[in-house]
Amino acid sequence: MQNVFELTHPLAAHHLSILRDIRTTPAQFRTQIHLLAMLLAVRATDDLGMEPHVVQTPLTQMHGSRMAQRIGIVPILRAGLGLVEPVLQLIPEAAVWHLGMYRDEATAQPVEYYCKLPVGNAVDVGLVLDPMLATGGSIRAAVLALKRWGVRDIRVLSVLAAKQGVEQFHQEFPEVKVFVAGIDPELNDHKFIVPGLGDAGDRMFNTQRD
Ligand code: PRP
Repeated sequence: MQNVFELTHPLAAHHLSILRDIRTTPAQFRTQIHLLAMLLAVRATDDLGMEPHVVQTPLTQMHGSRMAQRIGIVPILRAGLGLVEPVLQLIPEAAVWHLGMYRDEATAQPVEYYCKLPVGNAVDVGLVLDPMLATGGSIRAAVLALKRWGVRDIRVLSVLAAKQGVEQFHQEFPEVKVFVAGIDPELNDHKFIVPGLGDAGDRMFNTQRD
C-alpha cells in the first residue's frame, strides 16, 4: 500500500502498547493518544511546503523558512478530539474544522451529525484526525467532505487501523496518505479492531457502560 505509512519509531510501539492495555486509565489513555498524535503529526508533515523567510536574530539577519501552506485540522468527533491539541501544538496556525460522526452500532455505518465546512476557499492541506480506522467508513466520509470542500492534499492520521479497513480505504483513495501507529489483523463481528484497544472514545472520555 504505497500511501499507507506505519510508524516505525520504537516510541510509537511503546506508547501504543500502553494505550492498548486494559489497565490504562482514562487520564493515561489521553496522554498516550497525545504522544502518539505528536509522533504521527511529525511524520505526516515531513514534506510540507516551505518558503524562504528573512529572520532578524539578536546578532544578524539570516535566511530562515516558514510554512507556505494553509493547514486544516479535521477531527472526527468524539475520539478525534484527543488528537487536536498535540497537532495544534506543532502547528498553532492551523484551522480546526470539527466533523461530528458516530458509527451506528447495528450497521457500523457512519452517521454524520455535525459539519460546518465552509463553501470554497479550501485549506491547502487537510489533516483528518481519528484514533481508529476500523471499517474505514468514518474516515471515508470525512475525506469525501474534504474533497467536496476542494481540499487537494488530504492526509489521515489514525492511531490504529484494521488491515481490512485500511486496504479498502487505500483502494478507493490511493492518493490520500494514511499515517498510523499500528495495523491490526482483524475486525470482529461487531466491527471492532482485534486485538485493538477497545472503544477509543469511551476510554478517552471515561464513558464505558459496563
Ligand atoms: C469510532 C472511532 C471512529 C470509528 C471507526 O467512533 O472513533 O470514528 O468508530 O470506525 P469505522 O472505521 O468503522 O468507521 P464511534 O462511532 O465509537 O464514535 P465516538 O468517537 O463518538 O466514540
